[in-house]
Amino acid sequence: APGPQKNPSKKYNGAGTTTNLRNIVIGRCYHYMSLHPGIGDKNCSGIWQELVDAVQRKDPCKITEEDYKHLALVAAQTIPCNKTLLWSRTNELVHRYTKATENFITLEDTFLGFVFNGLMWCGKKIRPGMNFKFCPAWNECEHNSISSFWKMTSAAFAQASCGLVNVMLNGSADGDIARKKSILRTVEIPNMDPKTISEVRVWVIDDIQGEDKNSCNSKSLLELQHYIQEHKLKYSCIDNYRPVQALQCSESPDHAACNRCD
Ligand code: APR
Repeated sequence: APGPQKNPSKKYNGAGTTTNLRNIVIGRCYHYMSLHPGIGDKNCSGIWQELVDAVQRKDPCKITEEDYKHLALVAAQTIPCNKTLLWSRTNELVHRYTKATENFITLEDTFLGFVFNGLMWCGKKIRPGMNFKFCPAWNECEHNSISSFWKMTSAAFAQASCGLVNVMLNGSADGDIARKKSILRTVEIPNMDPKTISEVRVWVIDDIQGEDKNSCNSKSLLELQHYIQEHKLKYSCIDNYRPVQALQCSESPDHAACNRCD
């Protein structure tokens, strides 16, 4: 049988590098500084250059967290204690919630998360060094330019967190409350320092219209509790944390769960 074809512009299953990536990154970088003057002066073209140096002209399936080491250094940020909000399978709700309140910071509200959220990028060995046609999808190869970046930023965020750390989980989703391969389990929990983190508090939030498949006392939560405690972290759990339910109710005020007078 014929061997694999040598094809210099290999196809991948993910979308290609975002059009106008450079302008978006530099623009978002200045935007973040104007919204959060406390972060100090970031060198926005320097940050862009660190991203380019991490991936350009390289095989997009051979990018490790190590390749983003310099980017992590120049983008470092202090996270105030008790503000970190982690999540799994609640991407939409958690960000609606942090938009509505100033009390919490998700990864996507940090500098690196804000600048790179929703963007795609990957290198290729031939000119111009970036692939604007295809990039590897998240699971297509283990060490790809996107998943390694999010693992690096998530690890840095968990390491920089202190005090009480909250976690928003989805009580209406099928299966495990936090996938075994989720970033929460594989990256964030192992990177939290029990010396600086006083407690990990899980919120199990059901969809207002959805089923209550998981709650603090269900098997998958007890298993997660065990995993968190194995990492020497203090654990607590709240079902349908009221401030989040209040947000859900502002969107479906007539729902039965919103008719409480207590
Ligand atoms: N396949 C495809 N996309 C994935 C995968 C995967 N295996 N893993 C993660 N993602 C991307 C997707 O874009 C998805 O919407 O990450 C997003 C979140 O995945 P979840 O399973 O919902 O949660 P988790 O893997 O725990 O990631 C969220 O990590 O980024 C940090 O601080 C953030 O605490 C948050 C957590």
